[in-house]
Amino acid sequence: MKLITSIREMQDVADELRRQGKRIGVVPTMGYLHAGHLSLIHRAKEHTDTVITTLFVNPIQFGPHEDFDRYPRDLERDKRLAAEAGSEYMFVPERNEMYGAEHYSYVVIEKLTDVLEGKVRPGHFRGVATVVIKLFNITKPHIAVFGQKDAQQALVIQRMVRELNLDLELIIAPIVREPDGLAMSSRNVYLNPEERKQSVVLSQSLQLAQKLILNGERNSAIIIAAMKGLISLQPLAGIDYISVADTSTLQELSQLKAGGSVLISLAARFGSTRLIDNIIMIVQEH
Ligand code: PAJ
Repeated sequence: MKLITSIREMQDVADELRRQGKRIGVVPTMGYLHAGHLSLIHRAKEHTDTVITTLFVNPIQFGPHEDFDRYPRDLERDKRLAAEAGSEYMFVPERNEMYGAEHYSYVVIEKLTDVLEGKVRPGHFRGVATVVIKLFNITKPHIAVFGQKDAQQALVIQRMVRELNLDLELIIAPIVREPDGLAMSSRNVYLNPEERKQSVVLSQSLQLAQKLILNGERNSAIIIAAMKGLISLQPLAGIDYISVADTSTLQELSQLKAGGSVLISLAARFGSTRLIDNIIMIVQEH
């Protein structure tokens, strides 16, 4: 796998690949790769000839009191894992290469970013959308692969691609989980053993919601109360939000309707570690 740090060089490589008729897949990441990221590389590999994994801990998507400085980094390990997964290139720019001394241009997606993660993390999705469009312009992909783990991010990028007519196809890949159900995340390494043990309650609460809905519960307040009740049994868990929303608009649903697609999502803190998880369900006739 070839490591590239320069934007110009990455664009030249992408141009050359396109000239050769190769289809390019890109997998944007912030590194500290785990099986979730690797599943995206595998997916990209299935649909394209050449995979570019990007690794950039994007400062403009972190709030002033978030974990930018302590975000886990291990380039040597990431290079090995991405190469083993079949990535041909890894684009790893420095901060200055991406944003220079000053940066005035941002991409803003409205409405979808006012809720959930966007509400708790103001400016986060502006930072994500901006870096993602830059990474697209740098790697010139035919296909880009993102994870359902960050459901709102996936939706925001889908909107951006559609509404700004970006000439590429998106694939959203399912959440990869630890054997006990915890959604894989680079941030899981922050958890101490007791927090790690209790964190399994997040995926359990989503399973509980799924079970309630399958059994005919249609009142979101009841579903959310049941999830809260379960999570509250773990003393180290602090809930940021639990949401039952329409999958495409992210508007909260008080009542579920048959045939509708519902996104159940949550964010919770264990000590100073913030974790997110979600599940999508199509509500059946009952
Ligand atoms: P990062 O958190 O490193 O995630 C990179 C990609 O991996 C995202 O598309 C994310 O949804 C996906 N991913 C993370 N955990 C996953 C899991 N358990 N199963 C499946 N996919 C998973 O998301 C970002 O970086 C950044 O915001 C980025 C898009 C790179 C822009 O900076």
